[in-house]
Amino acid sequence: MERIRIIDSKDHVGEIVQIGGWIANKRSSGKIAFLQLRDGSAFFQGVVVKNEVPEEVFETAKGLSQETSVIVTGEIREDSRSKFGYEIGIQNIEVVGESNEYPITPKEHGTDFLMDNRHLWLRSSRQHAIMQIRNEIIRATYEFYNSRGFTKIDPPILTSSAPEGTTELFSTDYFGQDAYLSQTGQLYAEAAAMAFGKVFSFGPTFRAEKSKTRRHLTEFWMIEPEMAFVKHEESLQIQEQYVAFLVQSVLDNCDYALDVLGRDKDLLKTYTELPFPRISYDEAIELLNANGFDDIKWGDDFGSPHETYIANHFSKPVFITNYPKGIKPFYMPSPEDRDDVVICADLIAPEGYGEIIGGSERAIGYENMKQRIEDNNLSLDDYGWYLDLNKYGPVPHSGFGLGLERAVTWISGIEHIREASPFPRLLHRIYP
Ligand code: 4AD
Ligand code: MG
Repeated sequence: MERIRIIDSKDHVGEIVQIGGWIANKRSSGKIAFLQLRDGSAFFQGVVVKNEVPEEVFETAKGLSQETSVIVTGEIREDSRSKFGYEIGIQNIEVVGESNEYPITPKEHGTDFLMDNRHLWLRSSRQHAIMQIRNEIIRATYEFYNSRGFTKIDPPILTSSAPEGTTELFSTDYFGQDAYLSQTGQLYAEAAAMAFGKVFSFGPTFRAEKSKTRRHLTEFWMIEPEMAFVKHEESLQIQEQYVAFLVQSVLDNCDYALDVLGRDKDLLKTYTELPFPRISYDEAIELLNANGFDDIKWGDDFGSPHETYIANHFSKPVFITNYPKGIKPFYMPSPEDRDDVVICADLIAPEGYGEIIGGSERAIGYENMKQRIEDNNLSLDDYGWYLDLNKYGPVPHSGFGLGLERAVTWISGIEHIREASPFPRLLHRIYP
């Protein structure tokens, strides 16, 4: 007999099959038991009818506790009453592993309790849906860049450099030398772009951010494309195509997960329409000041209420371009006609989800870069290799970083970034 996964039920209607899974929930009366089955691919209902099975099978069904693992045998049927569309008429149940007093019951639990039990909370249908969307975004990312001739490169995680500023570093001892957990793979991606033209990195990055917000993790995954001979405008086009591709891929391949989360698919569809609106930092400050935000002036970085206002103003992902030099990293160049701003953009997601991409053109020129490194109190010993790139055939290049968990949070439409990571690392949480 064939063992199938729940997700493949549609190909087995009318067949007797086996499914290995867990009991997510159960309802039973004297004559019938409904088992909510979960096998990692999906959730669906198993029905055990007392009159149609041997007595001990019905007794087993009635006694099953939540999260007991089982192999059930039965017939796949269409089930028009359920969202999933199929169920299994159970004929036999083999208990594989007992489960007693499972702590996460279908009733409401507080967030701290759920986070302490993250290893179990992951089994719930909502978490399953979010992880399906995360998985699709990862898959679509590889498809997008691989089909456009990018080479994936893997920057190191242990580094001696701190390109995004020195205040948010996790440091460690590297055989007597200071080392840091990588904040970004960018500088290495730039070196690789000079070797391979178009590259992307996709790996874990770390920020010792003391911020306890619904957008910040201390460990998150970042996708960082870097492109030789590409100026800022072309980079913005790639960014918006990439983000629209992610949204479309989730719409195409995660329909059920979006339903589980109650995400508005028509709204998501509007985020695939290009181009995304653009507004300069200067204009954004004017817009805010004209609409009651007197707490912000030119030169300040945006807080989340500001980003939310701007995003709501456009109802689409929006690029804010040309930020003041003082609030951006050392590697961003200024345009020819102004030296108080830099050639960069942040992409702000709609619906209050905040920044999902930060990117820029990159400064080039040996003396120019040497000066920047010195002005930022960075050590030429640590950045010698990066400076070298300006000695041997430097070219204009641009790149950007998209935070995976920020994208998952936004596209899934969930409240808090902690649910976008299987085992999130937050300010006060490193367990489980
Ligand atoms: O804007 P950031 O700091 O940019 C960089 O690190 C550049 N070096 C990227 C590049 O140009 N290659 O971070 C990029 C993105 C942000 O837009 C956000 O999506 C995400 O990384 N991010 C975080 N996500 C979760 N938790 C945090 N603490 C994050 N900090 C940044
Ligand atoms: Mg940023």
